[in-house]
Amino acid sequence: MRASAVAQPNIALIKYWGKRDIVSNIPAVGSLSITLASLETRMTVEFEKGIESDSLSVNHEPAERLLPRVSRCLDDLLGPGRAPAVIESSCNFPIAAGLASSASSFAALVVAASQAAGLQADTLSLARSAGRASGSAARSLYGGFVELQASESEILVESILDADAWPMEVVVAINAKGEKPVSSGDAMNLSAKTSPFYSSWVEHQDQDLRVARAAVADRDFMTLAAISEHNCLKMHSLMWTSRPSVVYWNKATLACMETIRRLQNDGVPVFFTIDAGPQVKAVCLPAAAKQVRDALRETDGVLDTLQSSLGGGAHALDKP
Ligand code: DP6
Repeated sequence: MRASAVAQPNIALIKYWGKRDIVSNIPAVGSLSITLASLETRMTVEFEKGIESDSLSVNHEPAERLLPRVSRCLDDLLGPGRAPAVIESSCNFPIAAGLASSASSFAALVVAASQAAGLQADTLSLARSAGRASGSAARSLYGGFVELQASESEILVESILDADAWPMEVVVAINAKGEKPVSSGDAMNLSAKTSPFYSSWVEHQDQDLRVARAAVADRDFMTLAAISEHNCLKMHSLMWTSRPSVVYWNKATLACMETIRRLQNDGVPVFFTIDAGPQVKAVCLPAAAKQVRDALRETDGVLDTLQSSLGGGAHALDKP
């Protein structure tokens, strides 16, 4: 009744922003992401009949506040009659700061819990369960380039290209530490209700996905770079035009974008993407990674940098 799993965060190039159905957490739009290799969440789940309720620790500290969402995910996966669980999670990167820690956490959780409970579930069912907890988590079940399609009632997720079929590096500029003021879920619900641009965003997403999908198939870096930056800026414009507005950027976010523009003007194959936090993710071809990381390290306001290649998606670990 005990099992462990590891999962990596994923970075969306074509973003999920908005829900078709808030209760079942079905995204209003499809998305396309890359799964990282060296940032990770490790999760151990043990079901114990003798205890009264679930418990959760994150990086060896009790995490009561996060527990209800985790317990709901276990109920969704195994049914409310399941035994209570002791859940231990550890993360080797900052959590709740726009680095997709909820994606790697819920992906690791469903893999560890299904294994601990002896549930025979295929990857898509696990992805759907993780996605009901956090939309982006569904993508972390898969490696490399991953596409999530959203229909009326269900999601479909698949890897469209393996991690080693088109190697890339992601350099993350950490521009603030600490938790974000508004969760991405709350912020996207606000955008859907109040941004005058929301319907246009939903309407054009399939077009952006088509361009990105074809760029991945053709290994066309420049096209992928252009559509990814465009899609990211559209998502942030929804946040800014929400009422009240949501702005996750800080000065260093803009400084990093300028650094990346300068590198691009010098012919370096790199592009930026930014999620619900001030961190900037610079996606580049491997030969450019050192130059990109050095340039971001020297950018005003950048506190730290992380780097990762692309990885293979969530999986169970041998019994501890
Ligand atoms: C900006 O998956 O965190 O990272 O489903 O409410 O948990 P919930 O939202 P979440 O949103 C991720 C938003 C994003 C873009 C993306 O990853 O596609």
